[in-house]
Order: sequence, then structure tokens, then C-alpha cells
Amino acid sequence: MSHPVERPRRLRNSPTIRNLVREVDLSPDHLILPLFVTWGSGRKEPISSMPGVFRYSLDRLPEILGEAWEAGIRSVLLFGIPQTKDETGSEALNPDGPVPMAIGKIRSLFPDYVIMTDICIDEYTTHGHCGLVCGERIENDPTLDILSKMALLHAQAGADIVAPSDMMDGRVMAIRTLLDRNAFTDTLILSYAVKYASGFYGPFREAMMSGPQFGDRSSYQMDYRGIRDALREARLDAEEGADILMVKPALSYLDIITRVSQTSDLPVAAYQVSGEYSMICAAGQNGWIDQERVMIETLTAIRRAGAQMIVTYFAVAAARLLGR
Ligand code: PBG
Repeated sequence: MSHPVERPRRLRNSPTIRNLVREVDLSPDHLILPLFVTWGSGRKEPISSMPGVFRYSLDRLPEILGEAWEAGIRSVLLFGIPQTKDETGSEALNPDGPVPMAIGKIRSLFPDYVIMTDICIDEYTTHGHCGLVCGERIENDPTLDILSKMALLHAQAGADIVAPSDMMDGRVMAIRTLLDRNAFTDTLILSYAVKYASGFYGPFREAMMSGPQFGDRSSYQMDYRGIRDALREARLDAEEGADILMVKPALSYLDIITRVSQTSDLPVAAYQVSGEYSMICAAGQNGWIDQERVMIETLTAIRRAGAQMIVTYFAVAAARLLGR
């Protein structure tokens, strides 16, 4: 009589044994909620391509902050939508703009939230690019000045972590230098170190009413056919003083998350971006997949790949399901 010597199935026999041998956990502590903050008042505007996600004016923020806190979420990532845009994105430096005001509001209402802010000018420029533009060229070095001033402004308003997402070379060092010079030595930098030029950002551009008016972002975002470029960007950002490295998008880049987490000793974050969210919602709404199940499965897979923390539009829904 022959039977298999190894019997992996034995370890799956009971839920308790499955828990004993489980390798990867997902809890609300790992999740970061992105929030879109806009000007005006009384506004909670749905984003048609992102069911359940809204743009909030300042006075409407407390409701989502309360819901998220209740669910167990402790970290938020803020994106600002300014009332006016111009060539140089000057509203990004307005101390009364949506993001600095939101930071103050969150601090006073929910002092224990970890507040992160997106540092990038694409939402603030008429051309919709992440850098200053000369003709059709993106000007790397002149952009560093406005990015670091934006980071300082957010730190002064009370942000714990600034998150540059622009992919200009040298911005982490420029931001670190200006923060340190102004005694914000403890403000962390979460760098979108590895950001691919991706089709998965589509719904986000509707949400932010941004998106490039000419060309695309492939001169500064990364080619998805590459791996070495990712490792190099991660190394450079670490050398420039980043505290946390982010890989974005997440699900099509699990191998990159793994590679970055194995080659760097910094904490690794992943961004489950708008298109990833919308695909799961769309299939779920059609009854083609079980939305909650796929939500937890994808988030856990991102953890399994090596990310400590995950930025996700599912943060509140997932936290509710997971409990605290
Ligand atoms: C740039 C930025 C983008 C996202 C986060 N920060 C857009 C882009 O690079 O085109 C995308 C996030 C998402 O798709 O959810 N400020």
C-alpha cells in the first residue's frame, strides 16, 4: 500500500490549527485611508468611477473621520483639490488651502490620527503634470523648491508624515533638508519611491479633476517592464533620507514589493490604487465576485508580498470586517 509521506492537509484540518500556522496577518493597524479634501462648504461629492469614495469639504470631513476611527483606522493620507489652478501650482503653498486647513481640523478633533499628506503639484497645475513645465518638458530641479516648501507647510500645519508622489529626482533630499533646517527633524518622509506609469490611476484623475493636459507621465514615472529601475529608485530615496518606501500600484507589482522589502531595510508601504479599487467594486456590483472576500484576499496578498502598511480606499470597509 502506498500513501504520501508528507500530508500538508493535516495542518488545514481545523480553524484553530490553521490559525496556529498562519503566516500573514491583516489588521486595521496596517491600513491607511486616502481622503480627498476640497474647498467650499457642505460638499460631499461622489466620484462616479469610485463607488463609496467622496470629495469632502472641510466641514464635512468629521463624518468620515469619525466613521474611520470607529472602524479602527488610525492613519489618513490627505489629497487637496484647490479652488484655482495655475501654471506653477501656486495654490499648493497657500496656508489656507484645503490640506493645511484639514490638518488643523483633524488635529483638533482627532488628535491621535497619524496624518500623512500627498506632496505633488499635479492637482494644483493647469497642465496637470507633477512637475513645472517648460514647453512640453518637465523641469525637474525647479520643481524641488515648490515640493519642499509644500512639505514644510504641511509639517508646520501639523502633518506627521509627508509623502512625495511626484517622482522628481532628488526631492527626498530637498524635502529632508528644508524640514531639518526648520527644526522638523521628526517629520517622517514616506516616499513614493517606486511609482510606475500605470493605467490603474484612471479613476483617481476623475476624483481629483486632474490628469495631464498633454503628453503622459512616462518621462518621470517608471516603465512597468522594469525591475532594476525600481530597486535603484528605492535605494536612492533611502540614501536621500526617506523613512518609508512605497510601491505603487500594488496588485500588479507584488513582485516589486517583495524585491524592495528584501533589498531595503526600511519599512515598505504599498498603494492599492484607484483602478484596483474600482475593478473590484465593479465586479462585485455585478455579482461576478464576492467583493468582501476579494478585498481581504488582495490586501492580505499585498501584506504577504512584504508590505507593512497599505494605502487603500477599502480601509474603512476592511477594518469593519476585520474588527479591532
Ligand atoms: C499624484 C498621485 C497620483 C496618485 C496618487 N498620487 C496620480 C498619478 O500619479 O497620476 C494615484 C492614486 C490612485 O490612483 O489611487 N499626485
